[in-house]
Amino acid sequence: KFKDGLVSVTSLEEQKEAAGIDAYGNESTVSITVVGASGDLAKKKIFPALFALYYEGFLPKHFTVYGYARSKMTDAELRNMVSRTLTCRIDQRENCGEKMEQFLKRCFYHSGQYDTQENFAELDKKLKEHEAGRVSNRLFYLSIPPNIFIDAVRCASLSASSGNGWTRVIVEKPFGRDSESSAALTKALKQYLAEDQIFRIDHYLGKELVENLSVLRFSNLIFEPLWSRQYIRNVQLIFSEDFGTEGRGGYFDNYGIIRDIMQNHLLQILALFAMETPVSLDAEDIRNEKVKVLRSMRPLQLENMVVGQYKSHTKGGVTYPAYTDDKTVPKGSLTPTFAAAALFIDNARWDGVPFLMKAGKALHNKSAEIRVQFRHVPGNLYNKNFGTDLDQATNELVIRVQPDEAIYLKINNKVPGLGMRLDRSNLNLHYAARYSKEIPDAYERLLLDAIEGERRLFIRSDELDAAWSLFTPVLKELEEKKIIPEYYPYGSRGPVGAHYLAAKYKVRWG
Ligand code: NDP
Ligand code: BG6
Repeated sequence: KFKDGLVSVTSLEEQKEAAGIDAYGNESTVSITVVGASGDLAKKKIFPALFALYYEGFLPKHFTVYGYARSKMTDAELRNMVSRTLTCRIDQRENCGEKMEQFLKRCFYHSGQYDTQENFAELDKKLKEHEAGRVSNRLFYLSIPPNIFIDAVRCASLSASSGNGWTRVIVEKPFGRDSESSAALTKALKQYLAEDQIFRIDHYLGKELVENLSVLRFSNLIFEPLWSRQYIRNVQLIFSEDFGTEGRGGYFDNYGIIRDIMQNHLLQILALFAMETPVSLDAEDIRNEKVKVLRSMRPLQLENMVVGQYKSHTKGGVTYPAYTDDKTVPKGSLTPTFAAAALFIDNARWDGVPFLMKAGKALHNKSAEIRVQFRHVPGNLYNKNFGTDLDQATNELVIRVQPDEAIYLKINNKVPGLGMRLDRSNLNLHYAARYSKEIPDAYERLLLDAIEGERRLFIRSDELDAAWSLFTPVLKELEEKKIIPEYYPYGSRGPVGAHYLAAKYKVRWG
């Protein structure tokens, strides 16, 4: 897929070849088992992503999808459930119905317990029938609550591993709640699986603009030389959702926004953003650099952190609930639904540059962005001659991960016309305007990579350890000291404390 360390894959044919379609040939087959198939994630993301891969011709010729869960369901019922969530790409609608039917014919269901080897042995028997004596490659997607991960891994590996091909397991977050529980999970997984069989998913790594980060940095001369403390004043990683924890309060209350978003999604983006140039695009080379950055970071301290929780708010006659109005959330819960943090990387490149993170639910908008604020222009001529406020108006590079993907650079520009007036304008790469093709969902890329054995976008166990080391002390302190979150109205911009935290480092949120 990668030639001479450069991504040379551009054509669809080459991509299909890279996906292993020819390599699998007629002699091998991939069986994909979605464990927890009756659940929310399976319906919302996994089956639709598998269909999209099938539709675009990325799945091998011989493949079977099995749903596995305790709920009783027939194959027809699974197909009916799945069919309700499948969609076709807007640019490829013809054939859609026909393709869906063909895909659904390859989907089957087996009902069983997650901790019962006999039930997985029954699944194994069914998989073998479909594999029809070919080399069998098996992918298990654990889309189940974390307390049953290990049981399911034990049963799948002991009773339903491939006899003659590879067996891989995709594990969904949360990977523990702190350093200790994460290490225990890793240890338990490794009783049954080798590290190279474990694919720890962080779906933010599968997002188009997150994947593009290293292309932007390492293949454009104009960015990499500026990518350091010399030119960058601060970096902001911002995640916001305009809805609360509706329906997921039970899960969320045990984790909170720091574990749910910051320790994984935002930290992974930070690592990709700040890492040194990897030796090659090989997964291990990239992951080595990410680990180095994470290990160079200062553990987060309470004074560099603000936590918040949303409260009820009435707007336009509609009352939006408080976090603790959710029946699955314990009364008086102090779990943060918002957090802001200032992090530092103690290495030569980033010494003293604040990396500010902000993540929250029930805010005024839904977005995920990386904002890079550059230093002021030394001795700015235009400031001196025109007394403008340009010194304040420094350049800013914005990578809008979602929605409406874009990369834009804020520059100072002369307003056309006589005289000399300056304003701020954007050099704008707006994806919808530039590229006609719809952007694939992150789960498509990640599933395809897992099938291909490409580990670049999955989390290695040492990365996970380093990520937890940064957050575990502050999480413990927050919980032990029972820090009361700052309450913010549902639909607002979040607690004002986040602004004070940024101001402490002379930063304004973008
Ligand atoms: P669900 O709560 O919907 O659970 C999935 C399935 O697991 C259920 O359909 C149920 O199937 C089985 N299950 C649920 N609770 C239990 C239990 N206590 N004991 C045994 N089996 C149980 O989870 P999601 O689909 O929402 O998420 C799956 C995984 O993905 C989780 O680890 C979650 O943290 C992670 N995740 C989810 C996201 C989402 O948007 N939903 C986003 C990111 C990660 P049955 O009863 O039929 O056996
Ligand atoms: C998940 C979190 O990992 O990411 C959710 O558990 C969050 O709380 C979700 O809503 C956001 O993902 P996306 O792709 O919709 O931004």
